[in-house]
Amino acid sequence: MSRRKILSVVGTRPNFMKMAPIAAELARRPDAFEHMLVHTGQHYDAVMSEIFFAELGVGEPDVRLDVGSGTHAVQTARVMERLEPVLLDAEPDLVLVPGDVNSTLAAALVASKLGIAVGHVEAGLRSFDRTMPEEINRVVADSISDLLFIHSPEARDHLLREGADADAIHDVGNTMIDTLVAMRERIEAAGVAAANGLEPGGYVVVTLHRPALVDGPLLADAIERLAAVAEQLTVVFPAHPRTRARLASLGVDVESGERLRIVEPLGYVDFLSLVADAAGVLTDSGGIQEETTFLGVPCLTLRDSTERPVTIELGTNTLLGLDPARIDEVPELIEQTRTRAARIPPLWDGRAAERIADVLERVPLGAGAVSALG
Ligand code: UD1
Repeated sequence: MSRRKILSVVGTRPNFMKMAPIAAELARRPDAFEHMLVHTGQHYDAVMSEIFFAELGVGEPDVRLDVGSGTHAVQTARVMERLEPVLLDAEPDLVLVPGDVNSTLAAALVASKLGIAVGHVEAGLRSFDRTMPEEINRVVADSISDLLFIHSPEARDHLLREGADADAIHDVGNTMIDTLVAMRERIEAAGVAAANGLEPGGYVVVTLHRPALVDGPLLADAIERLAAVAEQLTVVFPAHPRTRARLASLGVDVESGERLRIVEPLGYVDFLSLVADAAGVLTDSGGIQEETTFLGVPCLTLRDSTERPVTIELGTNTLLGLDPARIDEVPELIEQTRTRAARIPPLWDGRAAERIADVLERVPLGAGAVSALG
């Protein structure tokens, strides 16, 4: 069989951790694959983007689309406009997209309309909350993908219920956890807590960036309550640029205090090192719910729903609801969660990218881009 040309599209911080092990695995099989990496530039600050390329050893993207920020329509449209000529020129056999961000949706749409096969990594997750932009992105990306790579048992049921072909679904495991496994020694050696005068097990890590929490009136209340928690347990809050901008407009002092420390976003190794030594985590992120389950660190999720129920059923996650008042209970809830028997979900074993590459070697793919243009 001739080499297959796979073109991967990444755009935001969590995409890089999901795609890095796949890029590495495809590179290990040069007789089977040629791989191209496109960075849409949805995230562009050094701490949101470049730091991960350097740390994860992904290498420079082959193409940068530099789309930057914008409304959903503008951002999605810009990726589509700029990606189409790249795909027409590269003529890949398959476009691989991870996760649920606007870049994922845009790339899947462009490829499928050019008749190029699409593989979706992290398919089938559903929060059943269509007010989340990510939910729309998931549903649409899955509905037009030819290969659906899942990492959670309920994902298959969701996809089948929405009419997916059972043969398109491949239970491969979690590539974000592949990255964690590959980087574990560096994470353990980093000692970020100690370097910052933090007692292991004596602080809570907070990340909040979703529009539902950050863009409305809830953020100010959340910050007040975090300040109260910080009386008992030091709070370390690496703030996403979206959150940082909102905090500044609320007049919150984003220069770090001693017990409530609002700090810049961290790189991958430093962030996971901080999480691994924390008493617990309070978050509205998707990926962090999974990483804490793998690390066995209590996770409290400040959302009404999660598309990652396996982290609750098997792992260390508890859903608090989108209710800042629940922040008052954080120290107590962390204690309760610590004693819970938690397990790592099946196939979260560091070998998901290998399984994806096996599938990509084996399955028949579509006719290719240009022929489909008619
Ligand atoms: C995006 C994803 C979200 C994901 C998150 C991870 C969508 C719809 N949302 O949300 O699912 O959980 O990434 O971080 O795709 N900004 C910067 N520098 C950057 C990037 C963003 O300052 O490098 C600021 C800009 O003001 C921008 C805002 O953050 O307008 C939001 O960025 P955007 O990419 O639109 O969404 P996120 O909130 O990052």
